[in-house]
Amino acid sequence: MTVHFIGAGPGAADLITLRGRDLIAACPVCLYAGSLVPEALLSHCPDGARIVNTAPLSLEEIMTEIAAADEAGHDVARLHSGDLSVWSAMGEQLRRLLHLGIAYDITPGVPAFAAAAAALGTELTLPGVAQSLVLTRTSGRASAMPEGETLENFARTGATLAIHLSVQVLDDVVARLSPAYGGDCPVAIVWRATWPDQRIIKATLGTIIEATDGARGRTALILVGPALGAEDFAESCLYGADYDRRYRPQSAASPWSEWSEGDD
Ligand SMILES: C[S@@+](CC[C@H](N)C(=O)[O-])C[C@H]1O[C@@H](n2cnc3c(N)ncnc32)[C@H](O)[C@@H]1O
Repeated sequence: MTVHFIGAGPGAADLITLRGRDLIAACPVCLYAGSLVPEALLSHCPDGARIVNTAPLSLEEIMTEIAAADEAGHDVARLHSGDLSVWSAMGEQLRRLLHLGIAYDITPGVPAFAAAAAALGTELTLPGVAQSLVLTRTSGRASAMPEGETLENFARTGATLAIHLSVQVLDDVVARLSPAYGGDCPVAIVWRATWPDQRIIKATLGTIIEATDGARGRTALILVGPALGAEDFAESCLYGADYDRRYRPQSAASPWSEWSEGDD
């Protein structure tokens, strides 16, 4: 028996990996985090599957479900939104499974930040503008931020920030970022990226509060940084005609020339 943790993607039912879909179809038990996982994914479950929305359950109750499946010898598809590597509460479940000696594996999914960037039609890292992306959040009722992981500290780097779980405190986010980024810095808020009711507002740190006109909602990503919407950036050397690299060595003396024979 195995618990298959599966990244269910950001919302659109076809943004799941083929592996994730096939695992759902093969498992007689499906536990899904109902607050964000699209119900349409449950149509992949086999007939007669036990399907449980874990949104109202405690960790103990989720483990009880898994233990019952284990006793019956049934594999479990465990669905969480986006990818499992960030804010999925997978870590605490893995720890329990390890303790119980129950096998598990992990299938990644499309994270919300990637879906939001695609909706905006933008690259979040641009040559000479931003080469780092910070996935972060602000303190919530359930999780305080570790010391040092402050918006002010991240803002000092000038990197692109993808701020999760924070649209309800937008005013505070803007106040904390503005000193480092300046009022002209681009901001985009993407609500429910890839869902049918996806919504986008683009503005600057100086204008975003007015532009949102009080709209907050819950499931949204705040993206901030000079890379958003930048047009004046250098082209990547990677595709430059005279750039020497493994796939296009410029001469026999190229350090990449022997690599390029046969293996690409
Ligand atoms: C508990 S976290 C889950 C993150 C998820 N594991 C991921 O890989 O993106 C939930 C937060 O992710 C962001 N989020 C999740 N899905 C989203 C979507 N479709 N559009 C915009 N933001 C989303 C929001 O900030 C939301 O409050």
